[in-house]
Amino acid sequence: MDSATNQFWDSFYQEREQVWSGKPNPVLVREAAGLAPGLALDLGCGEGADAIWLAGQGWRVTAVDISAVALRRAAAHAAERGVAGRIDWRQQDLSAWTPEESYDLVSAQFLHSPIELPRETILRTAAAAVVPGGTLLVVGHESFPPWSRHPEPEVPLPTAAELVRSLGLDDGTWRLEVVDSSSRDVTGPDGQQAVLADSVLRARRLTTDVRPRPGGPGRAEWTG
Ligand SMILES: C[S@@+](CC[C@H](N)C(=O)[O-])C[C@H]1O[C@@H](n2cnc3c(N)ncnc32)[C@H](O)[C@@H]1O
Repeated sequence: MDSATNQFWDSFYQEREQVWSGKPNPVLVREAAGLAPGLALDLGCGEGADAIWLAGQGWRVTAVDISAVALRRAAAHAAERGVAGRIDWRQQDLSAWTPEESYDLVSAQFLHSPIELPRETILRTAAAAVVPGGTLLVVGHESFPPWSRHPEPEVPLPTAAELVRSLGLDDGTWRLEVVDSSSRDVTGPDGQQAVLADSVLRARRLTTDVRPRPGGPGRAEWTG
């Protein structure tokens, strides 16, 4: 892969031996801990801490990122933790990717980029790959950390409620389980302190259940 996006993210990861903390995102841990493990898709998996945590919980994970540097690190960490066999690391540009499979969990944790990233389109494509009864979990910044390289966004970053509308999750085929904003204390790379707000969206795709009705033909019911 040889695109400006790929080069940007490879250089970003090459600047430090380890960019992220190595710990799974706390909101993922909180929101996914109660789910029955199945097939999971991690969008923009970076150095792999979320995928490794999910694999440790019994999930089989497809973990996608554009950066080969990040994915090499992620695969090495997974091998150290003994979960390599449960994770399929894929180098893909998500802006030009449609999943071939369907997933019980699609997770996007801080899928943001200081350069061009069609985030909403990617999330809409990924939401279509959630199985009936499966979960879509999207956690994102509501504002960027003061030390980040993100340019001031032209339009404010979406809240979880705005994301529900823009992804069309309010069409009656999803149960909206968490549509929230949560704050957390963060420490920057040089020890700077800040309080950041994150948008948290967890939605479950409803299941269709065709049951024979007494005295009539079967009809579809929303159950999930
Ligand atoms: C802000 S980081 C978040 C990483 C990880 N999810 C986490 O929470 O630590 C965004 C990730 O998205 C990846 N990314 C950015 N644009 C991408 C694209 N077009 N296709 C695939 N991955 C992309 C980057 O390489 C980076 O690892």
